[in-house]
Amino acid sequence: MAKDTTDTPQGPQHVAIIMDGNGRWAQQRGRPRLFGHHAGARRVREIVESCPDVGVKYLTIFAFSTENWKRTQSEVAGLMRLFRRYIEREAKALFQDGVRVRFIGDRIKLDSKLVTLMDNLELYTADNDKVHLTIALNYGSRDEVTRAAQRLAVEIEQGRLSHKDVDAETLSRFLDTRFLPDPDLVIRTSGEARISNFLLWQSAYAEYEFLDTLWPDFTAEEFAKVVGSFGSRERRFGGATV
Ligand code: FPP
Repeated sequence: MAKDTTDTPQGPQHVAIIMDGNGRWAQQRGRPRLFGHHAGARRVREIVESCPDVGVKYLTIFAFSTENWKRTQSEVAGLMRLFRRYIEREAKALFQDGVRVRFIGDRIKLDSKLVTLMDNLELYTADNDKVHLTIALNYGSRDEVTRAAQRLAVEIEQGRLSHKDVDAETLSRFLDTRFLPDPDLVIRTSGEARISNFLLWQSAYAEYEFLDTLWPDFTAEEFAKVVGSFGSRERRFGGATV
C-alpha cells in the first residue's frame, strides 16, 4: 500500500518494533537466554493490548530474522517452540481483542507444524480490524526484496507484465508487506542504533526511536510515551517546509 505523503499531525498509524535485548535481560539475572525470550513474549501481549489506547492501528514486530538461524541450535529450537506456544495460547485472546494477525517472511524454512499454526491464526483472525498485528518471522528485507524481484521476473518472463510497468508501486505489490501501509515510526529497544535488515524499503520515510530499555522491560507506559512524542515531529517526506 503506498504511503500518503501529506503530513500526519496525529500519532503514528503504523509502528514497527525491533524487540531487542532479551538475551542481555536474562544474562543480567543469571538465567538462560530463552528465559529472556519468554519474558519478551509476555511484553508482546501488553503492547498489542495497548495499541487501541494509543491510536496505533498497525503494529509490526520483528520476532525472528533471516540471520537469527546463526544462533545456537538450542536457542533457535527454543524460539520456534515459543512461537508455536504463543500462537496456541494467545489465539483466543487476540481474536477477542479484535486483532488481525498476519505473518511476513519466508515460510519455506519453518517447520510445517508452525506454518500450519500461522496459517490458521491468519484465517481465524481474518475478519478483525481493530489492530493489525504483523509478525515478522524468518524475515529479512534483502530476502524479501529478492523474493519479490524473482516473482516480478516470472511475471515478465510469462508476459503478464512488461519491464516498463516496474516502478516503486509495482515492486511494493510484490513485497510481503503488500497489505500494509508504510511504518511511520520504527522503535528499537536495547540501546543498539541499527536497522538490522528490517523493513528497509518500507521505512524510507519513517521516524526512528532507539531506546536503552531492554525489550522485556518495555512497558505499555513507555510505548505510550514514545508514540505520544511522535505527534510533535514534523514529517516532510523529502519536501520543504512551507
Ligand atoms: C532479540 O533479543 C530478540 C529476538 C531475536 C527474538 C524476539 C522474540 C521475542 C520477543 C519473543 C516473542 C515473540 C513473539 C512474537 C511470541 P536478543 O536475543 O538479540 O537480545 P540480546 O541482544 O540482548 O542478546
